[in-house]
Amino acid sequence: MKVTATTKELKTEIEGEKASHFLEDILAGLRQHPKKLESKYFYDRRGDELFQKIMEMPEYYLTRCEMDIFKNKTAEIASSIRAEQTPFDLIELGAGDASKSIYLLQYLKQQGTDFRYRPIDISGNILSVLENKLKDNIPDLDIESLEGEYFDMLHKASQFSERRKVILFLGSNIGNMELEEAYRFCFELRKNLNKGDVVMIGFDLKKEPNIILNAYNDPSGVTASFNLNLLQRINRELNADFIIDQFEHFETYDPLTGACRSYLISLQEQQVKVGHHIFDFKENEPVYMEVSQKFSIDDINKMASQSGFQSHGNISDSKEWFVDAFWTAI
Ligand code: AVI
Repeated sequence: MKVTATTKELKTEIEGEKASHFLEDILAGLRQHPKKLESKYFYDRRGDELFQKIMEMPEYYLTRCEMDIFKNKTAEIASSIRAEQTPFDLIELGAGDASKSIYLLQYLKQQGTDFRYRPIDISGNILSVLENKLKDNIPDLDIESLEGEYFDMLHKASQFSERRKVILFLGSNIGNMELEEAYRFCFELRKNLNKGDVVMIGFDLKKEPNIILNAYNDPSGVTASFNLNLLQRINRELNADFIIDQFEHFETYDPLTGACRSYLISLQEQQVKVGHHIFDFKENEPVYMEVSQKFSIDDINKMASQSGFQSHGNISDSKEWFVDAFWTAI
């Protein structure tokens, strides 16, 4: 009984801490010029559902492209992570439901590869769903999940294992970081690895600009709802009073920089209350929501070499729209 109560208390404390970070980040973003809301907060329950819908949209090619790689180039992936060499820990950052990596896990098991799968996610709920799914599908898989922030968990994973590491960071999640942030992330990743460890990162490639713009500006309005849902979440969780109809989604893609950016535009001059803080919006004032950065192969190689890695190949889908890049820590 006592243990359950303590766990409950701990959970409440963590929830409370998360809520106060959420409030601090939202207030800090709304005080900036231009105003900014962080896209990592898109993913509440409704946000998860909307992102599922996005992945099924004909315009949103990214998930299908990377799935094509995992389904049809599994042996190539296995050889790029040097699966035939020494035993390793396969660590997936933000594993979610492992819908792509499951193809690799199955292949590695069939080949009799000696590895342990260690999915990392901040959602303990997702991890237990994932563990059950994998136990059903790959009964002899050695799996041990880690609930928490990426680098905290990576550090923990290193403390308990001497094995070499292979890190998966899929889905173009790196694209949701500003470029400097992505560089810092790779540098930090390198600091948590040993020489010879391997990383596999999913990058969406620069391509015909309209293909990219359409993926984030769908006529059905799902991406717009995905962005606007954050205002709804702020209303609900932070006692705010955004009037959703008074904001409109606007998307841009700059083929020079490869940055696809989304904004919510205030349709009129208005005041919004968040808790007891008041924010003024001018008519047509943009709130910057998200970057989805696109890369060239040169951009990717440069990022590898400047953060302490050596690129040892890229695997692309059949359309050559997306790559999974393989880097060795040097
Ligand atoms: C999760 N992430 C890689 C998506 C992307 O493509 O930037 C998020 C997204 N935003 C709008 N559509 C999808």
